[in-house]
This record gives sequence, C-alpha cells and structure tokens, in this order.
Amino acid sequence: MTRVVDSEKEEEDTLIESSIRPLTISEYVGQTETKENIKVFIDAALIRDEALDHVLLYGPPGLGKTTLAMIIANELHKNIKTASGPAIEKPGDLAAILSTLEPGDVLFIDEIHRIPRYIEEILYPAMEDFTLDIVVGSDAQARSIKIDLPPFTLVGATTRAGDITSPLRDRFGIVCKLQYYTNEELKLIVERTSRVLEMPIEPDAAMALATRSRGTPRIANRLFKRVRDFALVAGSDKIDLETAEKALDRLKVDNYGLDEIDHQYLKSLIEKFNGGPVGVDTLASSIGEEVTTLLDVCEPFLMQKGFIKRTPRGRVATMKSYKLLGINYQENLFN
Ligand SMILES: Nc1ncnc2c1ncn2[C@@H]1O[C@H](COP(=O)(O)OP(=O)(O)O)[C@@H](O)[C@H]1O
Ligand SMILES: [Mg+2]
Repeated sequence: MTRVVDSEKEEEDTLIESSIRPLTISEYVGQTETKENIKVFIDAALIRDEALDHVLLYGPPGLGKTTLAMIIANELHKNIKTASGPAIEKPGDLAAILSTLEPGDVLFIDEIHRIPRYIEEILYPAMEDFTLDIVVGSDAQARSIKIDLPPFTLVGATTRAGDITSPLRDRFGIVCKLQYYTNEELKLIVERTSRVLEMPIEPDAAMALATRSRGTPRIANRLFKRVRDFALVAGSDKIDLETAEKALDRLKVDNYGLDEIDHQYLKSLIEKFNGGPVGVDTLASSIGEEVTTLLDVCEPFLMQKGFIKRTPRGRVATMKSYKLLGINYQENLFN
C-alpha cells in the first residue's frame, strides 16, 4: 500500500527535493538544542582549524538527519561523501570510501546500524586514530597494513539508536536525538517550501497541513506538494484552508496525521488483542505490515501522541485510542 504519510520513502522528485532542503543552520527549523550544540562545536572546530568530532544523529525517518549532515559539511566549508549502511557489503567498500577523504571532510553514513559487524570494526581505528587497517593478500601471504587517513568527521544516521553496537556508539563525541516537530515549526517549514516552490499558502491552510504531518517535515513537504496539485487543478493561484482541507480528506489523513496503517494498527490492537499487551511481531502479521515499519514509523509517533504504551509484555492501547476509534473503554476492560 502506498501511504501519503510514509516518511520512509525518499522523494521521487529529487530536483524539487534538493531545492526545498535547507542548506544552513539558520534555515533549519526547530531541533533547537541539537542545533545550538552543533553550532558551538562547528564554530570551535573552525577556530581550532581541526576536524569536527564525529556526530551520531538518530530518530525516526523524515526528521532531518540527512539534511543536518549536509548542513554540517556546508557550515564547515568541507566536502561531504555519502554512503549507506546496507550498500557497504565488504571491507573494501568502506576502505575505498575512507581512502578518498580529504582533511576535514565529512563522511555521512546513513543507516549506519546496518553495517555488518566485521566491517564496522574497520571504522574503530579510522574514527579514533585516523588509520585504516587492511588485510592484503590471502591465506599464508595475508598481512595487515596500516594506512594513515586525514582527520575527518564521520556523521552517522540511524533510526534505531538501540541497534548501534556500543563500541561504535562510544566513538561518537556528539550524539543527537532528533525530536518530532511542533505544529508551529512544521507550519514554518510548509511556508518556506511554499516560497521556494512559488505557490502561496494562507496561514490557516499551512497550519492545517502542519497538524496532519505527524511531526515530520518530510510528510509536511509531501502533503504540501499534493495539496498544491489540487489547487493547481482547481485553477487557484494560492492554497486556502478550504482547498487544503478538501485535499487532505481525499488523501485520507486524519486530524492527528494518522493514516490507514496507524488506524489498522490500533484497530487490530483493540479488536483482535483486546487492547494488548501484544508483541509487535504478532501485530505486524495481523495487519500484514513489516515489523520495521511498525517499529520505526508507526510506533514512535503513536507513543509520543499517547495512543499506545510499550510495556515489558507488549503493546497496550490507551484510552485515547479507544476514543479515536469510538470504542467503549470500560466495556473492553471487562471482556
Ligand atoms: N529542520 C528542518 N527544517 C526545514 N526542513 C526540513 C527540516 N528537517 C527536514 N526538512 C525537510 O524534510 C525532508 C526530509 O528530511 P531528511 O533530512 O531527508 O530526513 P531523514 O534523513 O531524517 O529521513 C528534507 O528534504 C527537508 O526538506
Ligand atoms: Mg535520510
């Protein structure tokens, strides 16, 4: 099923995508604490003329990890090389990227938790001492050689802080957890996108989009683009509240930003499992979704908004979920 609020999928339109991505810290909305810390560390690195300490960014998809990595490189006036955990299949893949780095460069590794452990070990000396230990030759001829690397900054991104091994995690000097955005922040992001794409939006319409974006800039931007299409077809030269709401209803996003999968999740939890506790694997198979989608996308938001709780015995629906689905809470308690 394609979902409008699927924050995982990268944008189809890379040209638009790169034009709406903020390039500087001052354009990056929200995440105040993270932003302020990073700014200080960047300024200090610039004054000392040293590479910035390694940075680990974690949080659900679409909250701005890739964007922040690019901003860090930009603010340091350095190049960024990008790699992705799942694409690093053999030690040579990582060695090849590391050996192209120039002094002070940023190496961005997305989904860093997906690098196999034996390859990850190459990163330890690289991060700590800027050396690359590689084995050349095989069997009896095999020998290990050390290559010096220039000082660089590794920026790692992950949706799962818990899946990062502790030796890797310990080698990051700066660890930042990205938070869901407030509606006011998302409104600013929508308004900025509206200016970049030259399609004006009225403040109340921007707020309507913000409240339905499940705290996620990527979704806010995606909703904006869809709503813009509705406005265009309707022949309007701006997006007003009426157009926005009509479009949002058609896109089946509710007032909390929950979509069909979230609804299915809650419905199954309440109707099939009596409100829980139930394990995530069981829930996932009951609605035919991937466990990772539930873990990375659905649950963090449902939990933050107080629709579910995680207990040692499994997921439990809160009263708020019963209300949302119009099911009597008491009734279920006595079943
Ligand atoms: N703080 C922010 N301010 C403005 N726009 C943002 C912000 N964070 C993310 N975005 C927008 O949301 C989109 C998704 O962000 P991205 O960095 O790709 O998320 P992630 O890497 O965490 O999945 C970006 O294209 C960017 O336009
Ligand atoms: Mg990303």
